[in-house]
Amino acid sequence: MIGSDFWARYFRDYDKLNLVPSYVELLTSICEELRPEPNSLVLDIGSGTGNLALQLQARGCRVVALDFCRDAMHCHRAKHDDARLVLADLTKGLPFKEDCFDAIASNNVLYALSAADQVAAVRELHRVLRPGGRIVLANPWAGWKPLTLYRRSVRSSARALGWGVTVFRMVRWMVPQVRMFYYNRKLAKESHYHYFEPDEQRRLLETCGFRPLSDTKWVYEGQALLDCAAK
Ligand SMILES: C[S@@+](CC[C@H](N)C(=O)[O-])C[C@H]1O[C@@H](n2cnc3c(N)ncnc32)[C@H](O)[C@@H]1O
Repeated sequence: MIGSDFWARYFRDYDKLNLVPSYVELLTSICEELRPEPNSLVLDIGSGTGNLALQLQARGCRVVALDFCRDAMHCHRAKHDDARLVLADLTKGLPFKEDCFDAIASNNVLYALSAADQVAAVRELHRVLRPGGRIVLANPWAGWKPLTLYRRSVRSSARALGWGVTVFRMVRWMVPQVRMFYYNRKLAKESHYHYFEPDEQRRLLETCGFRPLSDTKWVYEGQALLDCAAK
């Protein structure tokens, strides 16, 4: 069973992703779909090392970042002293009052829950979002392939940064990359995980009371689904 100790090892390598244009673009797509007003209060669910929270903050949001992994929070805190961090397991109910957030974002988190926990967690997200507030979820889809993601990310990186920089980074970060492959295989084998079929994340939002605002978008080199909805 994967718990916070697995995520602690995972996060030692995770932040190398910030050098990968496809990952940074994924976070940008989430922020663009969320369209938060400056100064709005945004909840980042499963915030990890804070990469999405930091992008939201750069757009003028006040961000509350929730995760159950203490080590991830240490990484987040190291990047931003004043980050508002909440250590909690999102399958155990959210420690917030109803209608208290203007917007909610979450990247690559809900797939790590069982189908039943996903419903309970998204109902909780509905409870804490204010009426009219927006939510954006992105998650890998059921058929995602780490090697396809890797190949396409390398091509996008070469287009954005040139082959010289791309090859240099590939060689430099070879060992963390291999470890990330191992972690992702382990994650994929976890039977209680529930990856979404193409229209499933959108249906989950509807089931839990949200109103989808657009069609599902394919993001992260065609390996993940992004849905935007409102309460
Ligand atoms: C793949 S990481 C994504 C991190 C971050 N959202 C990002 O995009 O960089 C998944 C995150 O979900 C968190 N997570 C998984 N299950 C959780 C749970 N039940 N409660 C709170 N956080 C959880 C993990 O600790 C980890 O930080």
